[in-house]
Amino acid sequence: MFATKSLQDEILRLKKEQDICILAHAYQSQDIWEVADYVGDSFGLSLEAAKADQKTILMCGVRFMAETVKILSPQKRVLLSHPQAGCPMADQIDTEQLKRLKEQYPGYAVAAYINTSAELKTACDVCVTSSSAVDILRRLENPNILFIPDCNLGAWTASQIPEKHFVFCQGGCPTHTQVSVRDVEQARRLHPDALLFVHPECLPEISAEADYVGSTTGIMQYAKESDHSEFIIGTENSIVQHLQFACPGKHFYALSKDCICSNMKLTTLMDVYHCIQGTGGEEIKLKPDVLAQARKCIDTMLERG
Ligand code: 13P
Ligand code: SF4
Repeated sequence: MFATKSLQDEILRLKKEQDICILAHAYQSQDIWEVADYVGDSFGLSLEAAKADQKTILMCGVRFMAETVKILSPQKRVLLSHPQAGCPMADQIDTEQLKRLKEQYPGYAVAAYINTSAELKTACDVCVTSSSAVDILRRLENPNILFIPDCNLGAWTASQIPEKHFVFCQGGCPTHTQVSVRDVEQARRLHPDALLFVHPECLPEISAEADYVGSTTGIMQYAKESDHSEFIIGTENSIVQHLQFACPGKHFYALSKDCICSNMKLTTLMDVYHCIQGTGGEEIKLKPDVLAQARKCIDTMLERG
């Protein structure tokens, strides 16, 4: 039986021996952060994936993130540490539904949140993440944007670019949309001196109340650099824990006890070990035409982001 530290040491030894780069989304647990080469938000993970020089990349996160790595590095072996870790939002719209939406809004640029399947990305013009959406879509030539699938991130992005016209579909993150105005009232009452930081996947009425709206990395950076000492955090609750580790002199409170992504929580350190050993995980395989087509909208994101 392994203790956490000896398992981490073994993973670090194996990844060096096998030339593996471990990428971890910020919602992963602390023990996984400690064996990762890079930890960050979806945009940061895409950038790291594009420049990593190892032959194998192991993604600790959810499926669309591993697919993005494969699209960016088709020649590499890309592994997803837990095969069942998916993002429910990525399955909220399929290519048939998108085809109908495009017929309804001809001439609109289709902007896909990165939380979409590789297949759906083949039919989109540009990909965005929570940290890059405003910059990328502000610079887009087309003034009309069909934003899929997260209408909450879409609405927040639209509020920052009033000169553009947006239409949305009915998607959203089941984790962040659980946060309610009541949670905000309660947290403000309990911690009247705290600043409220939220992720733009929250409902518009929650983002409207926030002192800062940003991606997971954005929230962490802003809280670390702030002179303030108390923060209410409205994103997946792992970020509360990570911030508390990073800034022991400050206080971080979860906006909602229910803001937990069961998919992000699936991956364990043991899964990472099994994946490296070849006894677990899944190698991501995508058809050549999907790789080529989906790449265009991710490249547009990286060029403009
Ligand atoms: P970011 O990592 O871009 O902030 O997105 C959060 C998320 O929900 C990832 O699935
Ligand atoms: Fe998907 Fe939401 Fe979980 Fe992110 S937090 S992986 S958007 S369900």
